[in-house]
Amino acid sequence: MKIDVLLGLQWGDEGKGKVVDVITPDYDIIARFQGGPNAGHSLEINDIKHIVHNIPSGIFRKNALNIIGNGVVIDPVIFKKEIDSLSGLGVDLKGKLLISKKAHLILPTHRVLDEASEAAKGKDKIGSTLKGIGPAYMDKTGRNGLRVGNIIENDFSEKYNFLVNKHRNLLKQYDYSYDISEAENEWLRGIDTIRSFDLIDSEYFINKALKENKTILAEGAQGTMLDIDFGTYPFVTSSNTVCAGVCNGLGVSPDKTGKVFGISKAYCTRVGSGPFPTELYDETGEALRKHGHEFGATTGRPRRCGWLDLTALKYAIMLNGVTQLIITKTDVLDHFDTIKIATGYKIGNELVDQLPFEVSENLEPVYREFKGWKKDLSGITDYNDLPDETKDYIRFIEDETCIPVKMISVGPNRDQIIFR
Ligand code: GDP
Ligand code: IMO
Ligand code: MG
Repeated sequence: MKIDVLLGLQWGDEGKGKVVDVITPDYDIIARFQGGPNAGHSLEINDIKHIVHNIPSGIFRKNALNIIGNGVVIDPVIFKKEIDSLSGLGVDLKGKLLISKKAHLILPTHRVLDEASEAAKGKDKIGSTLKGIGPAYMDKTGRNGLRVGNIIENDFSEKYNFLVNKHRNLLKQYDYSYDISEAENEWLRGIDTIRSFDLIDSEYFINKALKENKTILAEGAQGTMLDIDFGTYPFVTSSNTVCAGVCNGLGVSPDKTGKVFGISKAYCTRVGSGPFPTELYDETGEALRKHGHEFGATTGRPRRCGWLDLTALKYAIMLNGVTQLIITKTDVLDHFDTIKIATGYKIGNELVDQLPFEVSENLEPVYREFKGWKKDLSGITDYNDLPDETKDYIRFIEDETCIPVKMISVGPNRDQIIFR
């Protein structure tokens, strides 16, 4: 069996949580392979909204096993909060959540380092979620990190104190005051919660499951345009969000990749700083934010909004080997007389159809206009019932990208989806 992959093609928040929840019944295992609690994946079940950060979005379905893979960074404090809240809702977690021993831990001082580093950058800040992601991955690649498997060893406290001391020394270079005493206690309680789960060698577990013909879905976090190598660097996250990240984030070889579900909103959003060629600063951008409820699931920050960017979408499709597209939040466009898609950019008088090395403000999007459908899509479940204008819009995306759109999401709830 091969491992299917579902990932974001934009700057995150494409609706990955919702779609993973929708397709989980087709899978035995859902596995996160990168990122950490900077992710906020929302699912709506019976009009109740749930947001997961560290835990895979398959957790709400009865029969799926959920795995936090080696490529993920875990904050024990946030993890405990998620577990407590899921248990409070009556979600059965016993035997349903497994954690890789090789996943790295986010320490309270990683969060402080993130805050201090962002504060020092001033107006050039990345707009990080301040969850300690960058510093935790820096310790991983710097070969200083603490891993989940360390928490069941005798020298865990020693290793923890050693790393915290290193962080305290690093923090001396910033003019930044902090107090982690309470956070440390919470963190240790979180470590106890992690210890109560099955800590596994997930690379063996997953490869064995593939051999036994189990179906596995790798759930991406963030989006391709936030990838550490291919995103709008330095305004990116610290992991490989692209499909290749599945191989090192779960320990599967490239030939084991099956379908690649690429998710894109019917328009674009971005939260945090950095280039966004199709961003709208006018009332149309405001209307997208209002109708799409575009506020961050992790930080509550307003998301920047703009029209769909085909150049960025094609780039993401190329990098990920997307086999099918999923278009979400199509219903948000119900309200617009005209809808636009950027088909390329202009730099001065020159037309370009590639993202340049530096995506800067002199990149002017070239738009194609579509007639809006001005109908409520939120109750439609059959593709044939979609207005012609919506079909034209979807067909244009398919024709331009040469990738079929297999799902169209028309609302946040798990049943608001059209399959083709
Ligand atoms: P993720 O990080 O990719 O999982 O996405 P988020 O959960 O951060 O943001 C997506 C937001 O859009 C959430 O509030 C979802 O409940 C909501 N959502 C998902 N799909 C749709 C859709 O098709 N229509 C509408 N209106 N909302 C959606
Ligand atoms: P999901 O999985 C949207 C953004 C931050 C910031 C940059 C770096 O919900 O789609 P970091 O915390 O990694 O240091 O932040 O990346 N970012 C996200 N934006 N969705 C996310 O995750 C994000 N995770 C990080 O806003 O610009
Ligand atoms: Mg999100």
